[in-house]
Amino acid sequence: MKIIMLGAPGAGKGTQAKMIASKYTIPHISTGDIFRANIKNGTELGKKAKTYMDQGLLVPDELVVDLIMDRFKEADCANGYVLDGFPRTIPQAEALDKALAEAGTKVDVAINVEVPDENIVNRMGGRRACVGCGATYHIVYNPTKVDGVCDTCGKELILRDDDKPETVQKRLNVYHEQTEPLIKYYTNKGILKEVDGTVDMNDVFAAIVNILGE
Ligand code: AP5
Ligand code: MG
Ligand code: ZN
Repeated sequence: MKIIMLGAPGAGKGTQAKMIASKYTIPHISTGDIFRANIKNGTELGKKAKTYMDQGLLVPDELVVDLIMDRFKEADCANGYVLDGFPRTIPQAEALDKALAEAGTKVDVAINVEVPDENIVNRMGGRRACVGCGATYHIVYNPTKVDGVCDTCGKELILRDDDKPETVQKRLNVYHEQTEPLIKYYTNKGILKEVDGTVDMNDVFAAIVNILGE
């Protein structure tokens, strides 16, 4: 099963993708997480990506496409994957379709997690991410058992550099300009599904399972 998660920054793509990956036993591939891991490890790719990410801008298509094509070669991708944060532009979607067509396969479904801009800024300020395992929490909607400590691995939680309110607004603008057109792109291909992302995260997941099947 090859699944794409669409949605604004903070819509809950990562939250839902992790749940999908665990239920359907496919890898969760988040380009944002891959970039953040590269930044943390001080790689060349990380240095390049950081200059864009800190401004709320997209990393150039070439860098992202090469990265994701390499990732697909890994053994765990044999039975599909859930893509979170890729594709994010029309050229990225076209590059993906081309690569999959060459391999004799295609995307099965694109799930758009629908959340209005007003809800987003509120969510981002409360998000906390684990420095160890990348788990995501929210101080109100999805708190950890112990304040500031990851439930899964016990490491420290941080506010992401790009979650400052002014950067969040910039990311939303970039989303509307460059990523939202993908909704139409996948609608035209007949594989777009919409879920309401404003309800409780378990109810969002139930709607997704309804689409994907038990
Ligand atoms: P990326 O890491 O992909 O960030 P994003 O798209 O901005 O999305 P987020 O991760 O911020 O949000 P999310 O939808 O995953 O929400 P989450 O589940 O965490 O990308 C970061 C940057 O990397 C980009 O700006 C760009 O520079 C670069 N980049 C990455 N991919 C790229 C690409 N393909 N091309 C070019 N550049 C690229 O949830 C958010 C919060 O809400 C959490 O606290 C969560 O607990 C909470 N929450 C989730 N669901 C609910 C709910 N139902 N109710 C209440 N709270 C909820
Ligand atoms: Mg995410
Ligand atoms: Zn952790």
